[in-house]
Amino acid sequence: MIRYGIIGTGGMASGHAERTGKIEGVEMAACCDIDAERSAAFAEKHGFAASVTAYEDLLERCDAVAIVTPDKFHAPLTLQGLAAGKHVMCEKPLTTTFADAKEVASAARKAHDAGQVTFINFTYRNSAAWQEARRMIADGAIGEVRHATGRYLQAWLAAKVWGSWTQEQWLWRCETPKNPDGTPVGPAAGGVLADVGCHILDFITGLTGPASSLRCTAKSFPNVDPDTGERHTTYQGRTLDANSSVSVELDLDGGGLALAQATRWASGHPNQVALGVYGTEGAIEIDLEDSWTKLRHCLGEARHRSGWTAVDLAKTPTNYDRFIASIATGEQDQADILRGAKIQAYLEACDLSVQADGARTPVPSLGL
Ligand SMILES: NC(=O)c1ccc[n+]([C@@H]2O[C@H](COP(=O)([O-])OP(=O)(O)OC[C@H]3O[C@@H](n4cnc5c(N)ncnc54)[C@H](O)[C@@H]3O)[C@@H](O)[C@H]2O)c1
Repeated sequence: MIRYGIIGTGGMASGHAERTGKIEGVEMAACCDIDAERSAAFAEKHGFAASVTAYEDLLERCDAVAIVTPDKFHAPLTLQGLAAGKHVMCEKPLTTTFADAKEVASAARKAHDAGQVTFINFTYRNSAAWQEARRMIADGAIGEVRHATGRYLQAWLAAKVWGSWTQEQWLWRCETPKNPDGTPVGPAAGGVLADVGCHILDFITGLTGPASSLRCTAKSFPNVDPDTGERHTTYQGRTLDANSSVSVELDLDGGGLALAQATRWASGHPNQVALGVYGTEGAIEIDLEDSWTKLRHCLGEARHRSGWTAVDLAKTPTNYDRFIASIATGEQDQADILRGAKIQAYLEACDLSVQADGARTPVPSLGL
């Protein structure tokens, strides 16, 4: 049995527990939160044998842990978990600074050598549509990639579709992360770019191949109270300074151009993830708002008459399935923590580009 545990028992943790709890060979060993009551209720709901408040206690009881806390705790908790010899799945984004990403990547590399499994939870890899698109593009179905466009639209700053942004689970997402000395990490650190931009950057470059430079624009706006229309740049002592609408233009190593957009202001789209990839011999499009198991392609001769074919696919294993399977088989599956760190390198380049008023900026190396 794999003794499994979760740290951080808030909104996202339920998805981890529900899905992982159904996998054969998993023992729901323990969960942990700084909020003891929340953790105890979570343990009861999901059948964890123990509920603890100290991470060390969790680590003692588990072989594998999922880190589902707010972003700023991901790096220290991942480093501690790896140092304790555990298999670690970390929530996205992997870290809040690039310095931390390099440190975590280096620790993950050593952990892999020691037989530990690491995962970053890029959820949209759970879609059969993306996995099939990845296979098709790698097999050359669309020829050479010339253009890709991806969008991650959310609505929660403009619409109360997920409750009000004044709730704690949204407030921490509205603050730019801080360095240890209290200064903000950078204008494009945190915010929608890190929160869901990391997903769309993974979604796009996981299909098109990497980019070695990019340009980024990031905007911050006052939050608007959806009931009164009042505008806030601070709220209950919190500075609401994080970016909430971004666009990134990536220079793909293969020569093509890719565009990624993310926003929290898209009324009508609580959570839309969509992309199109266009090559010399055809195109593939995905819209997860419609379906996670459908894609459409326009390939070969059909492209001369703009003929699209919709493809229905069987579900694919989720990150949760693949994390546990990787531990059981000793074969590390996609996507590991090094991939999470690579996406942090894109985010670092975005931040530097914004600081340089949108200048083309090289994607920094992880130095591994
Ligand atoms: N992969 C995805 O699609 C996806 C979706 C949503 C959230 N997330 C990620 O999941 C993480 C959690 O998000 P959420 O929406 O569940 O947040 P949340 O605020 O609902 O829950 C966070 C929980 O962590 C606890 N916590 C805070 N600091 C802690 C610490 N130091 N030690 C232990 N527990 C601590 C809080 O008490 C809370 O229960 C974030 O990193 C977020 O980016 C990922």
